[in-house]
Order: sequence, then structure tokens, then C-alpha cells
Amino acid sequence: MPRRSRRVLLLCLLGGVAAGVAAGATVVFGGSSTPSGTLGAQAARDVPTWVEDEHLPRTAVAGATVFAVAGCTACHTYDGSGRSALNAPDLTSIGSHRLGIGFEIRFLRCPTCVNPGSPMPHFERLGAARLRQLAVFLEASKGAR
Ligand code: HEC
Repeated sequence: MPRRSRRVLLLCLLGGVAAGVAAGATVVFGGSSTPSGTLGAQAARDVPTWVEDEHLPRTAVAGATVFAVAGCTACHTYDGSGRSALNAPDLTSIGSHRLGIGFEIRFLRCPTCVNPGSPMPHFERLGAARLRQLAVFLEASKGAR
């Protein structure tokens, strides 16, 4: 790519991040381009309910918030929040499957690498720190009520 257009691309990306930060909790970090702004905002409001219902430890709260705003609830339900699309499973008790933090991160980064044919979008661009927070949240979600 010529240097000029690369710089334009970078500026666009930075602009996008700034706009996203300005939009606060409705930031869509994820690889999904679903119109999940309002859905994400609703899910973000549901985080305290998830923490209470699922007895989530403090260490899982950051990941719960990423889950709410990254667009995951466009396809996955969680503790009654979100909606189901593409036959994506409910994730309220995903932690009881004991997939492990490492596996979860690998899967979120590249679902098709782990499960060929998976229709789930890649979430590589959430970055290592957020992917880890998500994985901690998923592992802590044992479906306790
Ligand atoms: C566009 C729809 C879509 C979005 C958005 C989406 N997923 Fe998925 N996800 C799926 C589908 C479909 C499956 C089932 C196929 C598979 O396991 O590969 C799945 C599977 C999973 C699984 C494995 C479940 C199991 O029982 O093995 C996890 C964990 C998961 N998703 C987490 C997430 C997280 C976290 C996000 C947000 C960062 C997310 N998903 C966003 C569609 C989606």
C-alpha cells in the first residue's frame, strides 16, 4: 500500500477510535458490523444484573463490560440479555464447559481456526488485554442462579 493511503487509513482508524470513545458505553469494539449500538448500551446496563445473578467475581466485571459493548449480544444471549442469531449458543453457563482461558482467547481471536466453518466473526482487533478479560468473564460464567 502506498505510504500516503496508509496514513489516510491510520487517520480514519484514529478518528473512529475517538468517535467511539466519545460515544462511551455504546462503543462497538468488535468485528461484527451489526447495528448493536443500542443493543450494546442495553447490555452494558445489564452488567450489574449479570454480576449479581451469576455471582461473577470482581475479576470478571471488565470482561462482562467488553462482552456487552463489543457486539457479542447481537448473536449470543446471556442471562436473559441480548438476542440469538446464527444459532449462536447462550453463554450464561459457558464457563461450566471448562474450555480454559487459553482456548477461549484462541477461539475469540479466530473462531474458524479453532472451529472450521464457524460463522462467528473474528475478534482479533479487540487486542490481547480485552480478549483476556473476555476469556476470564466467560470462564467465570457457570450459569449460577
Ligand atoms: C455474528 C454472530 C456472532 C457474534 C457477534 C459473536 N458470536 Fe460467538 N458464536 C457465534 C456462533 C454462530 C457460534 C457457534 C459456532 C461456533 O462455536 O463456532 C459462536 C460460538 C461462540 C463460543 C463457543 C461456544 C461453545 O459452546 O463452544 C463462544 C465462547 C463465543 N461464541 C463467544 C463470543 C463472544 C465473547 C463474542 C463477542 C466478542 C461473540 N461470541 C460474538 C456467533 C457470534
